[in-house]
Amino acid sequence: MYCIKRVKEDLLWVGANDRRLAMFEGVYSVPRGVSYNAYLLLDEKTVLFDTVDKAVEDRFFENVTEGLNGRTLDYLIIQHMEPDHTAAIPRLADKYPDMKLICNAKTATFLKQFFDFDADARTQIVKEGDTLCTGRHTLQFIMAPMVHWPEVMVTYDSTNQTLFSADAFGAFGALNGAIFADEVDFGRDYMDEARRYYTNIVGKYGAQVQSLFSKLSALDIQAICPLHGFVWRKNLSDILSKHQLWSSYTPEEFGVMIAYASVYGNTENAAEILSARLRDKGIKTVMFDVSVTPASEIIAAAFRWSHLVFASTTYNTGIFVTMEALLNELTNHNIQNRTVALIENGSWAATSGKLMREQFEKCKNITFAGDTLSVKSGLKAEQLAEIDALVDAIRASMPSA
Ligand code: FEO
Repeated sequence: MYCIKRVKEDLLWVGANDRRLAMFEGVYSVPRGVSYNAYLLLDEKTVLFDTVDKAVEDRFFENVTEGLNGRTLDYLIIQHMEPDHTAAIPRLADKYPDMKLICNAKTATFLKQFFDFDADARTQIVKEGDTLCTGRHTLQFIMAPMVHWPEVMVTYDSTNQTLFSADAFGAFGALNGAIFADEVDFGRDYMDEARRYYTNIVGKYGAQVQSLFSKLSALDIQAICPLHGFVWRKNLSDILSKHQLWSSYTPEEFGVMIAYASVYGNTENAAEILSARLRDKGIKTVMFDVSVTPASEIIAAAFRWSHLVFASTTYNTGIFVTMEALLNELTNHNIQNRTVALIENGSWAATSGKLMREQFEKCKNITFAGDTLSVKSGLKAEQLAEIDALVDAIRASMPSA
C-alpha cells in the first residue's frame, strides 16, 4: 500500500524508508534506518526528482502510481547517479515510455555505465543555469560536482523557492511518519545523525560544498528537499549553519575528543586520567574506544570538537590496528584546523606516537599540543606531572584559557 506525504500543494514525497539495512554503502551502520527521498511535482507536466534504492523499489512504485493518479510521468530529473537514488530508473523507463530523463552530460555517461536500456533516446542534457518550465513552475539546474559524486546537480524551483538538494543537507535515520524537520526535535534527536551522515559521506569534499554555498547565496531558499532525511521548511539556518561549519572544517565546540586503542586497559587508563584532569579544569571531554565504536561516530565527533587526543598502543611495530584504520579514514576525510595531542604506549620500542604524528603532519592546519606522552606498559605515578603538562598545553590552546 502506498505511503505518500504532501510537501506542498502540488509536491509529494514518494520515497520510502529502510529500517533493515545493516550497513549503508557497506560501511556505515544505520541503526535508526535511512530514508530514500523522491519527490513528485504535479504541474502541467509531471516531474519526478530522483528514485530510490532497490531495497524499497516496490513501495516507491506504489507511491508514484498513486501520486500520479492516472497521469503519465513526463520528466525524471536525475540529480545524482549513486544507485541508492537510481536503482528504479530502468523499471521506471519501462513503465513510462514517454518519460524524458533530465540530467547533465556526466550523468548521461554514468547512466550508460550502470544500465543497458537505451537512455540516449530519451535524455535531455542540461548544464549550469539551464531552466525547465513545467507549467507554473520553473526549475533551474545548478551543478554541484563532488557533493558527493562528480555528476551531482541540485535543482531550484524558483516558483516556490524550493531547493532539491540531492545529497546535501541530508541525514541518516528513517522518517517515522513525519516529513518536516520542524515536526520533530531535530537538534536533540537527529543532529548527531545529520553530522554523521555529512562528515562520513561528504566530509572529504568541504571545498566543493563551500562552492555550492556560494552559488546558493544568490537564491531565496524557503524549503530544502534532500535525498535523505527531513524536508526543511522552517529554521533553515539550523541545518545550513552546521553545514557551513562542517564544510569549512570549523569546530562546532571547544572541547576534547579522546579516542584510544588499548589492548589490556593500560592505554585506556592513561586516556581516562587525562580526561578526568581536563574535566577538573572545566574542559568538556568525550571518549571513544576505537575498537568498539564505529569509526563513523568518531569521525563525526572529530568534526564537532576543537581538540583531538589519540592514544594508541604500539602493535606489530606500528599503530594499533583499529587506531590505524581510524586515522587513515579521518585523514582521508580531510580533517583539518584542529589541535591534536598524542599518547603512545609500548612495552618495548614504542613507535605509535611518532607514526600518529606523521599521519597528522599530512593534514592542513594541525597544531600539536604538548609533547607526545609515552607510556611504557602502564602509567606510573611520576608521570602524572606529564599528564598535567598535557592538560595545561591543551588548556592553553583553548581561547578561554
Ligand atoms: Fe545517497 Fe551519494 O547518495
